[in-house]
Amino acid sequence: MSRFLVLHGPNLNLLGTREPHLYGHRTLADIDRDLDMLARDLGIEVECRQTNHEGLLVDWVQEAPQQGVAGILINPGGYAHTSVALRDAITASGLPVVEVHLSNVHAREEFRRQLMLAPVVSGVLCGLGAHGYQLGLRALAALVCEPAMDGGRVLS
Ligand code: DQA
Repeated sequence: MSRFLVLHGPNLNLLGTREPHLYGHRTLADIDRDLDMLARDLGIEVECRQTNHEGLLVDWVQEAPQQGVAGILINPGGYAHTSVALRDAITASGLPVVEVHLSNVHAREEFRRQLMLAPVVSGVLCGLGAHGYQLGLRALAALVCEPAMDGGRVLS
């Protein structure tokens, strides 16, 4: 059975109470539980982790290929806009990665429009709230399990 990692970056542990007008009312536990249910339907396995630390995200991405992980769904939080290190780790992993943001980062402050990871991931979903995680996991599973539909990496 294919195994996928879901990585949540900084401040996403506060979901539910953090700026609900932007990020909604669902908690991280709600989102993870819904992903677990979807994974069962899709016949895949997911493991969800959250950290506020950039280096730990880098470690988890680096370790993923050796651990037999087939792909990563990531909400990098604020590191999406700054982290060269996380981008390099994703490139080095060679894994299909889907990036998700609850809010529409393109409709907010100018600095959120810079997405450091976007050029090296398979796809980006933003502005769809918690649906983005569900759609992102479906997309990732399809990229890995149905490669004939167009592969698991950036198309060129
Ligand atoms: C976010 C968007 C980021 O700009 C912000 O720093 C976050 C959450 C989102 O899910 O919309 O922490 O990644």
